[in-house]
Amino acid sequence: MEKSGNSAEPVVYRGLEGILAAETKVGFVDGQEGRLSYRGYDINTLAEQSNYEEVSYLLIYGHMPNQKEYTEYVERLRSESDLPEEVYDLIRKQAGKTHPMTSLRTAVSYLATFDVKESASDPESQEVMAVKLVAKMPTLVGAIHRIFSGKDILKPDRELSYAANFFYMSLGRRPDPMESKMMDTALIIHADHGMNASTFSALVTISTMADMYSAITSAISTLKGPLHGGANERALMMIQAIGSPGNAEKALSEMVERKEKIMGFGHRVYKVYDPRAKILKQYAQYITEKNNKNLFLTANKIEELMINRFGSKGIFPNVDFYSGMVYSALGFKTEIFTPIFAVGRISGWVARSLEYIQDNKLFRPKAKYVGEKGPLKYKPINERD
Ligand code: SDX
Repeated sequence: MEKSGNSAEPVVYRGLEGILAAETKVGFVDGQEGRLSYRGYDINTLAEQSNYEEVSYLLIYGHMPNQKEYTEYVERLRSESDLPEEVYDLIRKQAGKTHPMTSLRTAVSYLATFDVKESASDPESQEVMAVKLVAKMPTLVGAIHRIFSGKDILKPDRELSYAANFFYMSLGRRPDPMESKMMDTALIIHADHGMNASTFSALVTISTMADMYSAITSAISTLKGPLHGGANERALMMIQAIGSPGNAEKALSEMVERKEKIMGFGHRVYKVYDPRAKILKQYAQYITEKNNKNLFLTANKIEELMINRFGSKGIFPNVDFYSGMVYSALGFKTEIFTPIFAVGRISGWVARSLEYIQDNKLFRPKAKYVGEKGPLKYKPINERD
């Protein structure tokens, strides 16, 4: 335990800020330079030249697949993409009545019921569960979106790519090439991001030798929070509520006055522009050009004002500021934005969980006790004030 300079007083690192909790080869977040890479490949390279299936394989197995490995992995994902009927039924019962992240958390937990090895903890079984979860996440979120939108569930179309299939199962139509590329890129750039809160949750869970379903249920629960994955939903709602570039200055001042956190800005690691936000901003501008240019111009004004005011404090747009605008323009409902984040991040969650258990160590930090010194004398209840 760290001791502060002048006494034996232990130092508490709130939120474990700056603490290295593990070693990893899966991915690197360069917060000062604003760069993100997976197994040494920059996300811009992967977004331009790769696809989600390949990136998922890269994250999990540590190298770019050759043709045979790629074909086998794609086939494995396709063969595992369907869900047990009981899970579809649960989604039909629940999805219209609760937040889609609640539905997703429950459905993933329920999915374990149908896996005979759901409580196994050996690395081979964990890898099998991991690939099943990667394969099923788009189907789960697609089904939840359909029910949430008052539509029937669509089963996976094994002819489509991972991203295009997710688009189809969610929106009921096949994407055009540009929509497919946007969806694929969005999933790629969300696939992994160091020791973020939801990934850390997954690692804490799997470090107890719990199964992968439990670890991913922990991760989904954690992602839901507005300080993490839930920010994309709120960022778009904020931009829509501000409504025009002319309103931005006054609205932001009032929010800052009220000490509100501006959704889609700031980051524990990035103290410069989030490289993922740069990619999503380009898509947001392109996709709103025709029908909703004002929305993008409003967002751009908010960004300009925020950077002018907080840039010196290292507060810039993060991945959640423009993602919702892209998803909304593609046809997704706002409440499904965070589950879409989970469809991308499932590969990073399982990749880091599988990496961690190779040299497992139970996560169990300490807390600095600042309570009663004691020992206190016990008083029977009838003698208490
Ligand atoms: C994601 O970790 C990851 O990698 C996450 C993620 C991933 O891919 O997994 O990148 C995805 O979660 C992105 C972040 C999405 N969340 C939001 O957009 C919510 C708004 N952002 C803030 O809540 C905040 O920036 C955090 C939570 C993201 C990071 O906060 P920290 O590192 O804990 O820093 P902090 O809250 O202690 O803020 C430090 C200072 C404070 O001011 P002072 O008290 O020092 O005066 O900066 C201010 C904060 O008030 N600040 C903000 C702000 N973010 C920080 N002020 C206004 N609006 C903001 N958004």
